[in-house]
Amino acid sequence: MTETGRQSRILVTGGAGYIGSHTVVELQQRGHAVVIVDNLSNSRADVVDRIAEITGVRPEFHDFDLTDRAKTEAFFASTPDLDAVIHFAAYKAVGESMRDPLAYYGNNLESLLRVLEGMRRHGPRHLVFSSSATVYGQPDELPVRETSPVREAWSPYGSTKQMAEQILRFSVAAYGFKAVALRYFNPVGAHESALIGELPLGVPNNLAPFITQTAAGRQECLEVFGTDYGTADGTAVRDYIHVVDLARAHVAAVARMTGEKARSGLEVFNLGTGRGHSVREVIDAFERVSGVRLNVRYVGRRPGDVEKVWADTSLANRELGWKAERDLDDMMRSAWKWEQALSRRRDGASARG
Ligand code: NAD
Ligand code: WQD
Repeated sequence: MTETGRQSRILVTGGAGYIGSHTVVELQQRGHAVVIVDNLSNSRADVVDRIAEITGVRPEFHDFDLTDRAKTEAFFASTPDLDAVIHFAAYKAVGESMRDPLAYYGNNLESLLRVLEGMRRHGPRHLVFSSSATVYGQPDELPVRETSPVREAWSPYGSTKQMAEQILRFSVAAYGFKAVALRYFNPVGAHESALIGELPLGVPNNLAPFITQTAAGRQECLEVFGTDYGTADGTAVRDYIHVVDLARAHVAAVARMTGEKARSGLEVFNLGTGRGHSVREVIDAFERVSGVRLNVRYVGRRPGDVEKVWADTSLANRELGWKAERDLDDMMRSAWKWEQALSRRRDGASARG
């Protein structure tokens, strides 16, 4: 609710995507009205139906490309009553960004610029931005804090996140916005309903969907990249966070900006569990909760991978009043349930013809 008692209205760009769709669910379940803008470049329109099925509320949905200046301007001009923006829309595949950097700079930065322009001209003063732990590279100190240095980006994708944070820092100061950049660690898992989840197109790059697709027989074998890292079992360590916990942090970030604890300028928060897990531990957790044994092959390191990283989450815990509640078993259980639901939908579709 806003100060005047009106239901607050939140623009969620990229709201049909993986993290965006879970966030829309959490927002609607807490009484916010949501407007999604998504060009479906990496998602499907039926996600909006699934959100409606989970929450009983159909979010307003606009299908257009946020890099389109005229369309974005027209959207903001005709939607003057927004209270906040959560900006997820971006391309996110690290390897693809190496092959086509201009597509990544173009999409990820232009969409941000168009959104900031819309905010400047037409109203909403609060922005939550999807940043990434990738900005830290391999930190010297663990757990990594928000004050740790941002390392030179290894990929164009990571570079867009660093540049976006700088664009935000200067823009919020100049135009009097409030903004929160959330540095996600490794989001995994799916909604407990198994109605929404991650939809990787083609062969997945990330560990969790590769695991579930291998278990489902869609990939022949899971390759573990690197067994000679300086970690307890030699495989690389990450801070995996359940996507529902992540989604709830966005609700907390909106509440902070629009509530009494509001600070001016840009604030940055790590979003993780604060615990690191090795690739081997993730596989063990998956096998334990699914009862499926994975076909695993150990191979060399993947170029660009860091050895180990996990978050100091005390700032987000204290300032946002938020804490990740779900553990690795919950993450793997929900990811597996989602993969099985996808398989059933695929089988149903092929049986129909
Ligand atoms: P996703 O691809 O599932 O969702 C992004 C959505 O944005 C998609 O639905 C896509 O169609 C839409 N989109 C992209 N460009 C657009 C444009 N120009 N106009 C309109 N819509 C557009 O990705 P996700 O995993 O949900 O990631 C959301 C955000 O979080 C991204 O900014 C990503 O970089 C960031 N992030 C993701 C991860 C992760 O591992 N998933 C980690 C850290 C940060
Ligand atoms: C996790 C671990 C791999 C696949 C990436 C982006 C990052 C962020 C999240 C957006 C690593 C290992 C993986 C496989 C494996 N995205 N692995 N076999 O690389 O930590 O982060 O996604 O912001 O920017 O870089 O995540 O899931 O790809 O890998 O052994 O088939 O699993 O080597 O140690 P990563 P990931």
